[in-house]
Formats: sequence, C-alpha cells, structure tokens
Amino acid sequence: MSSAIDSVLTETRVFGPFERVANNANISGMDAYQALYDEAARDPNGFWERMAREHLVWDKPFTTVLDDSDAPFYKWFADGELNVSANCLDRHLNTPVANKTAIIFEADDGEVTRITYKELHARVCQLANGIKSLGYQAGERAIIYLPMSIEAVVAMQACARLGITHSVVFGGFSSKSLHERCVDIGASLVITADEQKRGGRAIPLKKAVDEALAQAGTESVKNVIVYRRSGGDVEWKDGRDLWMHDLVEGQATSCDPVPVNAEHPLYILYTSGSTGKPKGVQHSSAGYLLSALLTMKWTFDLKDDDIFWCTADVGWVTGHTYIAYGPLAAGATQIMFEGVPTYPTPARFWEMIQRHQCTIFYTAPTAIRSLIKAAESNDEHHPKKFDLTSLRIIGSVGEPINPEAWVWYHTHVGRERCPVIDTWWQTETGVHMITPLPGATPLKPGSCTLPLPGVDAAVVDESGQEVPAGKGGFLVIKRPWPAMIRTIWGDPERFKKSYFPPELKGYYLAGDGAQRDAEGYFWIMGRIDDVLNVSGHRLGTMEVESALVSHPLVAEAAVVGRPDATTGEAVVAFVVLKRPLPQGEEGQTIARELRDWVGREIGPIAKPREIRYGENLPKTRSGKIMRRLLRVVAQGENITQDVSTLENPAILEQLSQAY
Ligand code: WT7
Repeated sequence: MSSAIDSVLTETRVFGPFERVANNANISGMDAYQALYDEAARDPNGFWERMAREHLVWDKPFTTVLDDSDAPFYKWFADGELNVSANCLDRHLNTPVANKTAIIFEADDGEVTRITYKELHARVCQLANGIKSLGYQAGERAIIYLPMSIEAVVAMQACARLGITHSVVFGGFSSKSLHERCVDIGASLVITADEQKRGGRAIPLKKAVDEALAQAGTESVKNVIVYRRSGGDVEWKDGRDLWMHDLVEGQATSCDPVPVNAEHPLYILYTSGSTGKPKGVQHSSAGYLLSALLTMKWTFDLKDDDIFWCTADVGWVTGHTYIAYGPLAAGATQIMFEGVPTYPTPARFWEMIQRHQCTIFYTAPTAIRSLIKAAESNDEHHPKKFDLTSLRIIGSVGEPINPEAWVWYHTHVGRERCPVIDTWWQTETGVHMITPLPGATPLKPGSCTLPLPGVDAAVVDESGQEVPAGKGGFLVIKRPWPAMIRTIWGDPERFKKSYFPPELKGYYLAGDGAQRDAEGYFWIMGRIDDVLNVSGHRLGTMEVESALVSHPLVAEAAVVGRPDATTGEAVVAFVVLKRPLPQGEEGQTIARELRDWVGREIGPIAKPREIRYGENLPKTRSGKIMRRLLRVVAQGENITQDVSTLENPAILEQLSQAY
C-alpha cells in the first residue's frame, strides 16, 4: 500500500435541510437517520433480518442471516431461496404498479417508447422462454453486449429469471476485452445487437462479437442472440446466431421464475484493479437486491409518483443497481436514455428532464463539468432556459465532485431547492455506502457525508488503527454488508489479497484515501492504488501499459494520471520505442497510431490523452520506474524532489514534450 494521503479541507459551507423534501421523506430528519443507524449498529443481524423479511419476496425463507464461518467469503441469508426477476416484476403484477410505466425510453434520435410493468414482465418471460427453448439452464453464464435499450433490461432480467449469471460488457469496450471476459467466465450464451446508436452515429456491436468469438477459448459459446437496433449489415453464422425477434416470436408471455439460493451469483461485472487484468466482481442475488431496493427508498427517497433518471450505462455497476434492478424492485417509473448528453446539443439532459418531468436525476461529475462549460459558452444550452421545477433530488456518482461543480449543479439545475446527493460506492460495494439522505443530512459540497444504516465505515492507518479527524488514511468498511462483492470470479486468492489485507484486521479495504472532519463527515481524496478515474470510468494503469507494450513499436511504457478539469483525470503515457526518438511529424503519427491501438485493445475510454517519448524511463538504480516523478512531469511542473536516487536524471527533460 502506498502512504496515506493528507490534505487540508478548506470547504466550510453547509446546505440544507431542504424542507420541501424533508417534510415527508422516507427518512425524515437526522434523528430518524440516527435511530436507524443505531439500530443497525447495535444488532446488525437483527437489522438485516428485519429488512430482508420486510422487503424481499422469498420462495424459501432463510433461517440464518450472516454466515461468517469462512470469512472474508461472507454469506447472507444463505439457506433462503428467491428469484430476483420475480422480486422486480411479478411482485407488482397484482398491485396498481402493474399498469404503471416502468421505463420511458428515449432513443438517440428522440423517439420515445414507454413500457408498463405488465408489458415488461411479458417481454422478459418471452425472452426467458426463448432462451430456455435453446436448452440453457440455471448456473450457466451469459455475456450481454447491448446498447442502452429496453432490450438490455429485458436481457438482464430474463437471465436472472432463469438463474443464468450475466456479465454485461459496456458497448464501448473492444472485441479484445469482450473476448477476455467471454473466456474468463466460460460463457455459453452471448446477447448483443447489430449496432448501437450514439450521437447520431451507428457503432457496430455484432461485428465485435464475431471478432471475439473467432478467437480461441470461446468454444463454450453456443448461441448469439441479436437484437435488431439499426438494421445495419451483419455477418451471420447459421446455427449459432439468432435474431431476438425470431426467438421470442410465439413464446408464452409467462415463464415460471427459477428459485435460486440467496448466494447464487446474479452477475459478474469486470472492473479495473491495480495489477493485471480486470477483476470479475461477483455479486449475490438476495443481499444485493435487498440493498439495491433499500437504497432506492433511502438515498433517493423514492415515492410512487417519482420519475427517476439514472444516466449511467447498463455496462457499469451504476446501471445494474440503479437501472436494471433497484428501480424495478421498487416499482419506480424510470427514464432510460440511449444517447449522449451533447447530442444533438449539450442541452439534451435539461430538455429531457423538462419533457419527462423527471423528479430524481442521477449523473456523474464529469458530465456536470462538461455541461457547465457548454452552458457558459452558449446561453441556449444553459439549464436556466428550461423548466426544471419537476426536480426534487439531484445526485452525483463515480468520482469526487469538486465544490465548484457541486454549487453550480445545486444552483442552476437544482435551483437551490434540491439536495445534492453525492453517493460514494464502488462496483465491489454493489450499492451506495456513504451518502447524504435527502430529507435528513446537512450537505457540505465535496463531501459524501455519512454512512448509510448498516455501513460501518472508517478511516484507518497502515495498521488498521482509526486516525483522528482531519487526518488522511485508508477508507475501510469494518463489517460485512449484504450487497458486498462475494469473490473475484475464478480467483478467490486475489479477492482476499485485494480487499482484506492481513494488517487491516479483516476490514474491507476500498482502495480510496479519505479523511473525516470534526463532524464525522467523509471526504474522499482519490485512489491509493494505480487505478485512474477518467470521466468516472475506472482504468488500471497496468492495463493501459500492457496494451501499449503489445504494440510492435513499443519497448517499454509507463502510464500515470494527470488532473483534468473536465474528466477528473487524464491518461498520460510515457513510451520508449524500439527505434530512435521520433521527431516532429513522426512523433505525431506514432502517437496517433498508439492511441488507436489502445482504443482497439481496451476501448476508446482508455486512449491516452498524451504520449511522451523518451530513450528510457526514470528508474531507480534497482530498476524501479519512478511513477511519482512521472506524475509531476505529466502535470508540466518542475521537479523539486530529490532525483539523486535516479539512475538517469537527464531523462526527465526528454519526457517533458507531449504529443
Ligand atoms: C471508485 C469506484 C460508484 C459506481 C460507479 C463507479 C470513485 C465513486 C465517488 C464519490 C468520490 C467516488 C472512488 C471509488 N468514486 N463515487 N461519490 N466521491 N469518489 O464505480 O468504477 O467501481 O469506481 O470511484 O474512487 O473507489 P467504480
């Protein structure tokens, strides 16, 4: 572990409470929050037992709550059985929710499609029946590589209905990433689309699947189900490929949900770590769904008449928990958007909030920051031009939100009437962990405030000792929680090593630096490992490095992050070529080639913003790359540190020129 982060907090403003929300909130006022928090702290098992019995529909009730006999491989409600899809759909069928709109889908080109809970249930059943007719069974694994669409939700829910574990791969990932994930989970089924549409362009998906499945190790895949989105040309492999519309045609609109064990893996979602290839984070069925549902009610204060909108893609955990599962379990009406916030103009989000009367809006700081820029350069794109009075709660997720962006969001989008809910969590935590409650918590811009009931968060030093207020340290969760990661698929040792280092007394290590202020509020200071956060997307520096060195021209590469006003961090790559240092034009050409290469190896989000060449990299005499110095160089600052331990100090000068 690297050393703890210390920094001085200068933000002292406090916002709220917000009467309009607080008066009838699900958790109203700090006393109510404290009471629930204390109940969970006094008797965690009793608390979670009560929640799981009150909020989930069980096929076979559980008799044990937490099984910690094989820690850190915790099990929750381990002898219970249920079905996640039944808990998201069937539970509403005999209630007024059945005829309520489940999803308002807005396509890239603006076309709007609505679907009720009853219709969604029928669609899920038809696809599940289709998949069943091909011979698939509970326990198999499916890759889902789909654009933002009702079909993506239908596919996830259909898998859950049959007990098939899904792994959604973000449509922006390359065929190579897709191939790796296919092999790692031993997928037998792939569900994809011909193309996806974003910002007026059509991007092929089926083609990437074909490329991935042409590679060795994917023989386990028996079928590819293809949703026809654009009608673009695709190649076809008879016997393997099936159109989704053909498969579901004539299928019954009911399909018995398969009861699975509470611990049955609902999904595996890949995320970047500090070393090696991405980790397959495995989530459970019952514990995960319980907390997805509870956080809808707690963090978003969800009410029957809310119109909820989470702008994340279903390829990320945010889209799993707060599009595909949480809102449906809660019976919410939600907006789902195919496109990008800047198309056809950077006012798209504000127009859509107005058009659909959105009440709860949840997006990422990187989107907010780029829309601030757009609004300030053109008044027509400013949120003040739109009627946003339907909003009652606005949220943020994915990276620290700087106080300036927070205040703009609060002022211009929330019109000073909506609490800003800065939710800290991770792919591994499954659900919100540290976050304000809109009807209770006084807000401080830049702080994710206080842990939810049942979350035992702390900031500790290297030996697991809690550090005093105002001091930096490692963010840990001291006690297991129901939605937590169960393991890394196929690599339990890596799971233990990454998240439960022995010196931390069995605490879960989040990988973030943090500090608490005098009132116990948490302030996240960024990652403590070699993980970057670019536009809210997690990226391992090692992943980008290995992509670069696999290029025939590259001898060696080191990748660091540099702070960026819009994307949070930007990727800067230091590269040693297998040929003399390129000059001028040649440097540009190779830089372009390398950026595209990384785009093809991982996905466009991993493309380095800058490439810098050197005849070598700064190394210690023992041959270790000095990333600390590279970070300083990447920021364009002068080196003030002692470089006497460097084997080759002159190299720093060479590396300061960017392409
Ligand atoms: C990492 C997790 C949470 C779902 C989407 C990202 C950073 C996330 C916040 C926040 C400060 C945040 C952390 C965390 N992060 N939310 N509100 N404030 N930092 O999930 O890809 O697993 O990334 O994102 O560094 O460890 P993820």
